[in-house]
Amino acid sequence: MTDRSQIEKLIDTHKRHLQVLEEQQAMFGLETPPHVVLGIQDTLAKIAELEAQLGRGAPAEAQSNLPRLPYFFGREDELAQIAEALAPDARGWGMLIDGPGGIGKTALAIHAAHQAPAELFPRKIFLTAKLRELTPGGDQPLADFTAPDYMALLAELGRELGDDAIGKSDPAERPRLVRDRLAGARALLVLDNLETLPEPERARMFQFLDRLPLACKALVTSRRRGEINARSLRLDRLSRAAALELIGALARDNLLLARATPAERDELYAAAQGNPLLIRWVAGQLGRPGSQCRTVADACRFMERAPAGNDPLEYIFGDLIGVLTPSETAALAALAHFAEPARVPWVAEIAGLAPPAAQNALDDLRDRALLAADPEGTAFVLPGLAAAFARRRLPDPLAHSGERAGAVGRFEQYSGARVQACERCIS
Ligand SMILES: Nc1ncnc2c1ncn2[C@@H]1O[C@H](COP(=O)(O)OP(=O)(O)OP(=O)(O)O)[C@@H](O)[C@H]1O
Ligand SMILES: [Mg+2]
Repeated sequence: MTDRSQIEKLIDTHKRHLQVLEEQQAMFGLETPPHVVLGIQDTLAKIAELEAQLGRGAPAEAQSNLPRLPYFFGREDELAQIAEALAPDARGWGMLIDGPGGIGKTALAIHAAHQAPAELFPRKIFLTAKLRELTPGGDQPLADFTAPDYMALLAELGRELGDDAIGKSDPAERPRLVRDRLAGARALLVLDNLETLPEPERARMFQFLDRLPLACKALVTSRRRGEINARSLRLDRLSRAAALELIGALARDNLLLARATPAERDELYAAAQGNPLLIRWVAGQLGRPGSQCRTVADACRFMERAPAGNDPLEYIFGDLIGVLTPSETAALAALAHFAEPARVPWVAEIAGLAPPAAQNALDDLRDRALLAADPEGTAFVLPGLAAAFARRRLPDPLAHSGERAGAVGRFEQYSGARVQACERCIS
């Protein structure tokens, strides 16, 4: 037997051993014993070394269906955290990126996935459950390229891994079939906008990720945070420097924006509260056919009274309104009155809720990335754009002042008070 065929035989033996270990890992999930985890890492390293001896090292470029981003600015800290979560020795399946609509979760996940080394992840697979997108001309449904439920996402994943038949398989068998395909593929998955899946479907997807083969990792984006067994990253506004770079890039194709002074660019950043989707939308109003907006100030004013069908605040926050419980609706509407962080008993009184119910509602809203809170969860604040939207769309709990005249009086007292926790809440 030649050296080459001996090495190939050895690789086959290691791959069979790897398959046994990965089956054990799939069975144990999070409780996988350390010797199995170490065995997988060790076997993967041996296979890589033998393949390198055959000159079959990992490709310099991964096989990928990741969308191309025309540009990407800032987010250095977040990229470093993601790189850590994707490192071979990191525990867990990867990272969940959550945060409000349009804040840049998808862009960050895609950019981080492009940056992940091809030697670690020769396959990079992007799957989205996104249903709508906001363009300067309005809210557009995304009919194609959409996998709306867990089973459909698995079928799509199977197809990306080269097995069209998985889509027709018995749903009870499908997770195992996809896992078998993933074993040895060393794939990095980007699962986008999982908040569009109904809760039970999302939970099943996270269970699937808990049993992902160790050599694979995933980045998940969602507008909501859930209970997960992985690291998570709450994405907040883009830094001013990165946002100004984004505005500069947009100005290359937009004459009116190109004329904007540094002060006007700052005004755009402030009006959009550092949300890159809003920056793009406001910039997109300048010079758009049919638009009356000639200056940044015009476009910012237009955002505040945008028409139905092209209302960026509706796109960002609107889907939440339909899924709020009555307590959450009342807590949110009450909080919209406070310009500064408000303590739970204050919100409870204005909302007409018992304090424990108000606390639960506020905690849930924070988990959906709608509110910011101090680390102890005792003071909450609704960021300005969300507050403007809530005031416009939710019933005003102070409107029936006759019923709760006391609460109105106390509210005036509360709003005059400054809250110590102010700086500790996320701005
Ligand atoms: N760091 C960045 N640099 C440049 N452009 C960015 C950056 N972050 C986001 N963008 C742009 O802003 C827009 C909104 O970003 P993105 O789609 O990633 O938001 P999202 O949080 O995923 O929104 P949604 O909740 O609707 O899915 C996109 O056009 C995106 O390319
Ligand atoms: Mg997204």
